[in-house]
Amino acid sequence: MTDKAILSAGAVALVTGASAGIGRAVAVALSARGVRVICAARRLDRLETLVSELPHPALALELDIADGAAADSILARLPEDWRQIDILINNAGHDLGGRQPYHERAADDVAAVIQTNVTGMMRTTLAVMPQMRERGRGHIVTIGSVNGVEWVANHSVYVASKFAVHGFTNSLRLELRGTGVRLTEVMPGLVRSEFAAARWGGDEARAEKFYDRFDAALSPEDVADAVLYTLDTPAHVNICDLVLRPA
Ligand SMILES: NC(=O)c1ccc[n+]([C@@H]2O[C@H](COP(=O)([O-])OP(=O)(O)OC[C@H]3O[C@@H](n4cnc5c(N)ncnc54)[C@H](OP(=O)(O)O)[C@@H]3O)[C@@H](O)[C@H]2O)c1
Repeated sequence: MTDKAILSAGAVALVTGASAGIGRAVAVALSARGVRVICAARRLDRLETLVSELPHPALALELDIADGAAADSILARLPEDWRQIDILINNAGHDLGGRQPYHERAADDVAAVIQTNVTGMMRTTLAVMPQMRERGRGHIVTIGSVNGVEWVANHSVYVASKFAVHGFTNSLRLELRGTGVRLTEVMPGLVRSEFAAARWGGDEARAEKFYDRFDAALSPEDVADAVLYTLDTPAHVNICDLVLRPA
């Protein structure tokens, strides 16, 4: 094991939720540094466009992390020379039907949020992390949220999902100590992305109104900068939690 930062030209990264927002911005930033990026999400057409625009070799992977079989078989579905993943960005997530009182929530939406943000993220980690452990080299960055440590009314399902992300990430980090695999949780406050529109079935007008209620928001690129900062540290440094909010 060397003390070199893992973020180097030729390293392989898997970014979930790369078709929009933070995931897309991270994929762009990683590729600019010469990283070979596997861009994963459900909307393959978007991923193919992204991959064609990236400056270094990249791969589009159709992946619904809420589909257990799909998440479990990520490595098997990659070409052999893309299977040694050095960097995993656990970013895919949503808040389907959210920002509503809990008694008005549809049960299927509640389950879908947990299925993606928690179960899908954990299954993806389980599919990718063991080969990192075996090689003694890897960095997993999970996109949590300030809602992983703060509770909010009418936001209980998403908050529960991000509390789970926080507990999982912190526990797993302890477990991986000394293995050469680092684990970071980047916890943003409000980010202006497609997140609010996805929450309300693609209703962009409602999403814009929601974002306009706040004085300021982060951009996906702001979060990507923070992610790259955590990846740029030498191997003996593990940034555990990184909280960023709009100033
Ligand atoms: N926006 C915020 O204010 C904010 C704040 C803190 C944390 N976060 C977190 O940041 C992450 C990214 O959010 P964002 O703001 O960038 O939202 P976004 O613009 O809506 O992007 C979400 C991404 O996740 C993907 N995705 C959703 N469900 C998926 C699934 N089941 N399988 C695979 N991919 C899936 C979407 O792609 P497809 O639809 O193509 O699958 C999309 O690429 C999420 O984990 C979110 O909880 C967001």
